[in-house]
Amino acid sequence: MTFDFDQVFDRHNTGSTKWSRYPADVLPMWVADMDFAAPPMIIQALQKRLEHPMVGYSVAQDDLREAIVADLWNKYAWRVEPQELIFLPGVESGFNMALKALVQAPQNVVVQVPNYPPLRHAPGHWGLNKVELNFDAQADGTYTTPLDTLNQSLQGGGALLLSNPHNPLGKAFPRAELQAIADICLEHDAWIISDEIHAELCFDGRQHIPMATLSPQVAQRTITLMSASKAYNIAGLKTSFMIIQDRHLREKVNHARCGMVDSVNPLGMEATRIAYSEAAPWLAELKVYLQGNRDYLAEAVHTRLPGITMNLPQSTYLAWLDCTALGLDDPQQFFLEQAKVGLRLRRWLQAVRSPELRLPKVAAGGRHSADGAQFAPSQGLISACRGEQARSYKYRAIWSAASLHRQGNDFHQVELGKGFRQTR
Ligand SMILES: Cc1ncc(COP(=O)(O)O)c(C=O)c1O
Repeated sequence: MTFDFDQVFDRHNTGSTKWSRYPADVLPMWVADMDFAAPPMIIQALQKRLEHPMVGYSVAQDDLREAIVADLWNKYAWRVEPQELIFLPGVESGFNMALKALVQAPQNVVVQVPNYPPLRHAPGHWGLNKVELNFDAQADGTYTTPLDTLNQSLQGGGALLLSNPHNPLGKAFPRAELQAIADICLEHDAWIISDEIHAELCFDGRQHIPMATLSPQVAQRTITLMSASKAYNIAGLKTSFMIIQDRHLREKVNHARCGMVDSVNPLGMEATRIAYSEAAPWLAELKVYLQGNRDYLAEAVHTRLPGITMNLPQSTYLAWLDCTALGLDDPQQFFLEQAKVGLRLRRWLQAVRSPELRLPKVAAGGRHSADGAQFAPSQGLISACRGEQARSYKYRAIWSAASLHRQGNDFHQVELGKGFRQTR
């Protein structure tokens, strides 16, 4: 590999959100923020940019727009015009702006479940009725969209908040399923607000399909949200963009920024330009590394962790682990206290509590307890968590197993076979 994904950086006391939440002995794996250095070409470009000591309010320059337009064409054969891009300080602000601009009560906003919590909470910010669309769990462990329910939920128009590729399921939507979803939205004149922030992280040679590329009709009703933040690990630079191809729609959504969503920072825009124009070799290697991590994690969960199951993510560096069979009252607390691993803090599932289960009820196939974890720490970081502490860290080592796939022998020193229950 040309690029070094193994180097360890101590992120304590750097203001990192991920590394500030838990005590120092906890390995945080709860936020989609990788522990790799950003691509060197981006860091060098930022250093060069700072040789000019002015960082005032900034607008997107033509070369940034052109770099994105070229990338969208190269990756997805998607023809976008430079003026169809709107720059924002975050995908989250984008989907909130779109809801504010486009949906009126009593229309519904359909949100997939499980889901990234800010997507689930967005309709509530605007007093809109949320309909949670629970995936259908298939026998082969995949999840599909319940089209009948979607159809009923959008009878009065409204909007679908789509996460594609899906966080946390790691699902890269196949064309036929996207088309069926789009057909329903079009039939009811519903808007499609498509969060595609993880688009570039598809595995096994899979190709991401942007919703708006299905047809001009679909593009007319779609607001696409993208960013270089996840794939190139520059989330803290808070730079994203919307693609809205219909001019009237674009103006309407952009108007909703008034008083809330300001301009984007110049360093974020420069980093984004470099990501799309120069960092392709880095991304290619990252995907190989992540896919290796994913496979190792899946193997470790399958062979060494009775009571936990996991689907193989097709995309994203997030794993969705079904811990139902462990019978834990609070898996997140258990992993935090026993394993010293900080998983996602907020619930990603329905907030419904059932007294019998004492766990949040996952509608997808009646599974009851699952949690999100990510598999993007560097291999070196994980080895730093072993040594004499290995025993007490055995579970964190397991959760981080994906990073150890090149150090299999060492990893076997960790006791893996006992299962979680016996430690309680
Ligand atoms: C699906 C999804 N959308 C949006 C975001 C947040 O994006 P931003 O920081 O640009 O608001 C995340 C971050 O994890 C995410 O996973």
